[in-house]
Amino acid sequence: MSGIIEVPGAKNAVLPVLAATLLNNGTSILENCPELDDVFTMLEILSALGCKTKKKGSRIEVDASNLTSSCIPEILAKRMRSSIIILGSVLARCGEVLISYPGGCEIGMRPIDMHLRALEQMGAEVDGLKHGMLKVSASKLQGCEILLDYPSVGATENIMLAACFAEGETLIRNAAKEPEIEDLQEFLKKLGVSVSGAGSGVIRIQGVKEINAEPVHKIIPDRIVAGTYLAAVAATGGSLVVTNVEYDHIGSILYCLRRAGCKIKNYTGGVVTLESDGKLKALDLVRTSPYPGFPTDMQPQIVALLSKCSGTSVVVETVFENRFRYTEQLQKMGADISVQGRTAIIRGVDKLTGASVEARDLRGGAALIIAGLAAEGETRISGVNYIDRGYERVEQVLAKVGANIRRVEESRNMI
Ligand code: EPZ
Repeated sequence: MSGIIEVPGAKNAVLPVLAATLLNNGTSILENCPELDDVFTMLEILSALGCKTKKKGSRIEVDASNLTSSCIPEILAKRMRSSIIILGSVLARCGEVLISYPGGCEIGMRPIDMHLRALEQMGAEVDGLKHGMLKVSASKLQGCEILLDYPSVGATENIMLAACFAEGETLIRNAAKEPEIEDLQEFLKKLGVSVSGAGSGVIRIQGVKEINAEPVHKIIPDRIVAGTYLAAVAATGGSLVVTNVEYDHIGSILYCLRRAGCKIKNYTGGVVTLESDGKLKALDLVRTSPYPGFPTDMQPQIVALLSKCSGTSVVVETVFENRFRYTEQLQKMGADISVQGRTAIIRGVDKLTGASVEARDLRGGAALIIAGLAAEGETRISGVNYIDRGYERVEQVLAKVGANIRRVEESRNMI
């Protein structure tokens, strides 16, 4: 494969920023938004709450001047479990929120205990209603010091959003340091909120009375999409230029690709190039960890790449408790992987062979595409709806850089 791919805006940045637009009595303008099913779902949720939303390509406008509801429709919340990040902003703006408990998913139980404990600490009342609904209410949230047991991305985001209208200052210790948290901070600053420390692990937010702003905000590039396409070309062999990427955001991913034998160069202006002969070396150990460590959202993709290489690699998944289910599908393609709890041992094979496989989660699906591209013969992947949640027109992007890939007409849900 060879060619140029422009990296779109980050799914995991635009979702919390869309949640933050609910805090604003005015109209927020977001640019460089990715066109993804999860973004469309979030827009449906905002509309259900009374927002007027407009989307033109990668530009989104949200007018949240007149909210008419604080209840997130169950059908929408169920479709996208990350809708839980809307909790903090609806609670802050409306004083209460009704939302269905987000279920677990393919990669783990995904509890929200840290979210709820922090909101209770700020004075909210949490009523775990029956029938899977959750009601959180607070006449006025109180700023306070919160220590997270684990640097949870979603919990950090929800606390930042809830703190915007709280009385006084909120301090979050052991906060997540992901670039998406920094992007949310930049947006909140454009709303006129005084917030600092994102990326450092300690975040301070000074509550305000209300927000009337007309912010224009460009969403940061998607580091996981960039890493996924770089891993695809690393696995098949070839050369790729990715543009509109933040080099530092993908530093840990590039480190692993270099160690596997890829030649990588970084140019000013957000351009990174990769060259690979497709004959990769095993990595003795890759451990996922919170940013700036190796991202859990790239774990399936790196395992797919290591499946076809010389030597044995070990990958340890420290963030989610059940994120190796996709390896059963890779084994159908001839991969030699054994999973013990949170550790996968990958014995590299000379070749993978095409097979019919099933995507059951977003990044596991991306791993199947990488394996399919590097395999001999045809691979048919069902469950492409999962992949569409995080990758814009994935088959078109890859075909443009030489991949032999198409979406099978008889069911839009198959590649
Ligand atoms: C965000 O999920 C991302 N999603 C995930 O990306 C990403 O994998 C994850 O952060 C880690 O980086 C979005 O941003 C929309 P966490 P989130 O809270 O916020 C446990 C993708 O593929 N935990 O940092 O849900 C939790 O079970 C998705 O784009 C609690 O125990 O992740 C997990 O083991 C997948 N209690 C760990 O913390 C809580 O209250 C990290 O979860 C919250 C989390």
